Amino acid sequence: MTDPIVAEGLVKTYGGKVQAVKGVSFEVHTGEAYGFIGPNGAGKTTTVSMLSAGLRPTSGRAVIDGVEVAANPEEVKRRIGVVFQESTADGDLTGRENLEIAAGLYGISRREGKERASALLERMQIGDASERMAKTYSGGMRRRLELGVGLIHRPKILFLDEPTLGLDPQGRAGFWQFIQQLRKEEGLTVFVTTHYLDEADQYCDRIAIIDHGTIVATGTPTELKDKLGGDVVTLKTSTAQDVSETLRQVPGVLTVQRQDSSYRLKCSSGEVVVPLAVEACSKAGSLISTVSVKRPSLDEVFLEFTGREFREDEGPSATDKAILGARLQSMRGGRR
Ligand SMILES: Nc1ncnc2c1ncn2[C@@H]1O[C@H](COP(=O)(O)OP(=O)(O)OP(=O)(O)O)[C@@H](O)[C@H]1O
Ligand SMILES: [Mg+2]
Repeated sequence: MTDPIVAEGLVKTYGGKVQAVKGVSFEVHTGEAYGFIGPNGAGKTTTVSMLSAGLRPTSGRAVIDGVEVAANPEEVKRRIGVVFQESTADGDLTGRENLEIAAGLYGISRREGKERASALLERMQIGDASERMAKTYSGGMRRRLELGVGLIHRPKILFLDEPTLGLDPQGRAGFWQFIQQLRKEEGLTVFVTTHYLDEADQYCDRIAIIDHGTIVATGTPTELKDKLGGDVVTLKTSTAQDVSETLRQVPGVLTVQRQDSSYRLKCSSGEVVVPLAVEACSKAGSLISTVSVKRPSLDEVFLEFTGREFREDEGPSATDKAILGARLQSMRGGRR
């Protein structure tokens, strides 16, 4: 069986000079949730746009559900649902109207469109607000409405570009609950970009890290963390004495960082190192008051592969800036 999403050497160069995506290749299997993570400007939205028939690649090819995107963009659009990074709901229409109009655009009959809209409004838990204009919705409600719009024609493949950006933790968890439910019940294949690494870790089966238009690492969240090789042990001593050197001598310890009476050790196996570290400190006359062992988080993986600390408040996104730039240009009568 062909994979629902196939990217082969996709390249996008904007205006002949900005090399946004420099040749990415991957496959997403049926029913998988595939996470695409990377810093601002890495090329995530550009990749989503090429896969979802919104943007022509400069070179390379995308095949969605067995359909060549470049040859059959309209057919691809019929088979996929997309929730864009930028809000797309019409604020001056009610939630129900947004859904019914989307149904019409897909050629769904009025009667079926109404039924489908009602079902989705209930499902997305915005039934009570269905007759209110979308501009009165909270951020979370609006995103759920946009997810509903993306699902109106029952696609089996869903593209989500930063679907939870700006939502509070509760809103984010709620959104993902719907996605997980849909995956379970309808076997949806999901391609998602996110700035929230904990979401990628928790909900994605596999992840690709993209930086400067190139995929720099791929794997399951566990595989990626394993690539960093080892655990992080955090110790606190009950005395002020500096035991960094003692800890550095413990077999299996790779690095030691000290902050006051706390020590952060990177080591191949926390289980092996902890009893040895406790013994060594005690011999050196220092008692350990607390100890914890942690597998490295995706944040550390991200730092390792992109050389950048992951920050959620990086200012306007590259996508936002590009959209704004294009709008300003079109307002001035230029061409997009
Ligand atoms: N329409 C456009 N015209 C020119 N350059 C663009 C356009 N769209 C995007 N870019 C540039 O291409 C690069 C990749 O942008 P893209 O929006 O794909 O990044 P992203 O990973 O989605 O970033 P973010 O996390 O900020 O959304 C950036 O340097 C961006 O400024
Ligand atoms: Mg983007």
